[in-house]
Amino acid sequence: MRLNTNYMGLELKNPLVPSSSPLTENLDNIKILEDNGASAVVLLSLFEEQIEQEDSTLEFFMDYGTESYAESLSYFPKAHEFVSGPQEYLENIRKIKAAVEIPVIGSLNGATPGGWMEYAKKIEAAGADALELNIHYLPVDFNETSADVEKRYTDIVSWVKANVSIPVAVKIGSRFSSLPAVAKALEGAGADALVMFNRFYHPDVDLEKLVTKRQVQLSHAREIRLPMRWISILRGNVNVSFAASGGVHSAQDVLKLVMSGADVTMLASALMAHGPGLIRTIEKDLITWMDENEYNSIDQMKGSMSLIHSPKPQTLVRDNYMRTLLEFQANRGKA
Ligand SMILES: Cc1cc2nc3c(=O)[nH]c(=O)nc-3n(C[C@H](O)[C@H](O)[C@H](O)COP(=O)(O)O)c2cc1C
Repeated sequence: MRLNTNYMGLELKNPLVPSSSPLTENLDNIKILEDNGASAVVLLSLFEEQIEQEDSTLEFFMDYGTESYAESLSYFPKAHEFVSGPQEYLENIRKIKAAVEIPVIGSLNGATPGGWMEYAKKIEAAGADALELNIHYLPVDFNETSADVEKRYTDIVSWVKANVSIPVAVKIGSRFSSLPAVAKALEGAGADALVMFNRFYHPDVDLEKLVTKRQVQLSHAREIRLPMRWISILRGNVNVSFAASGGVHSAQDVLKLVMSGADVTMLASALMAHGPGLIRTIEKDLITWMDENEYNSIDQMKGSMSLIHSPKPQTLVRDNYMRTLLEFQANRGKA
C-alpha cells in the first residue's frame, strides 16, 4: 500500500502531519510523534508579537490558554525546556533537525507587514525544510476594506517568497468574501501550499468576574466539513498543494479529505485528546480501508471527490439550504 504523498515538493511517507501546537514545541515530543509514524511536523508558531515585543508579551504566549488543555497533554512527557524567545526558536529548529529524519516545517505567525518577516529567512537558515506562514488576522477596523485585508495577505506572502527558497505554505482562515479569489491571489503571490483552515478562538464572558476570557477548545470531527468543502472547490483550479486542518480525528476523516483534494491532513486536537499512538491507529485503519476498497495508493484517490470530478457538484457549490432543511424535517418525521 503506497501511503506516500507529495506536499509542496516534500516527499512524505504518509498524509499524517501533526500541525502547529504545543505538541510540536520541543524535541522530546517531536521524536515521539516521529516514532509513532508522523510524516512531517509543523512546529509551534513563532509569533509576530513575540518577535516585536519580546519581553512584555512573552508571559502571555507561555501561558496562553494552557489551563484549557493541560489534561490533554498528559500523553506527552513534561518538556524539559521551553522555547521562550525568537533566538531559542531558531536554536530549537537546529536541534530538532539534527535529531529527526522527517521534514520539519517552521511556523511564523503574524499579520502586519514588518520586521518579524525577517524571521522567515532565519527559520530557513536554521535548517527548516519548509515554512508555514500563519496569517492570523481579525479585521476590526471599520475603514479597512476586504481588498485592503487581502492585500495584507498577498504583500506578506510576496515578501517572504522573494526572500526564502524553501517552500512556503500559507495558513488562512475561512472567512473571506471570496475564498476562490483569495486562493488565486495567494497562488499569484507565490504560495506553494494553502493550509485550510486557521481556527479562531472566540472569547467567552465570565459571568462571575464580569470579564471576557480566553479559552482554547479542542476540535470535533464534524469540523472537517469546512476544509473538505473548500479544498474540493479549489483543487484543480488553484495550482498549490493543500493541507487540511480542523477536525481530523480518524482514518475516515483522512480518506474524505484526500478524496476532496488534500495532499496532507494535519492533526492537533485529536493527538492531544488521544495521544501520539493515534497516528499508528489511523495509518493502520487507512491501509485496511484501502485494501478492502481496492485502492493501492493515496495518489489514486487524491481529488477523486473534488468539484471537478464530483458526481454531484451542486451539493458543493450551492448552499441548497431549503432542500437541506426539507431533508432534515423528513428524517425527523421518520425517527
Ligand atoms: C492548544 C493549541 C495551540 C495551537 N497553536 C498554534 C500555533 O501556534 N500556530 C498555528 O498555526 N496553529 C496553532 N494551533 C491550531 C492547530 O494547528 C490547528 O490548525 C487547529 O487546532 C485545528 O486542527 P485540529 O482540529 O486538529 O485541532 C493550535 C491549536 C491548539 C489546540
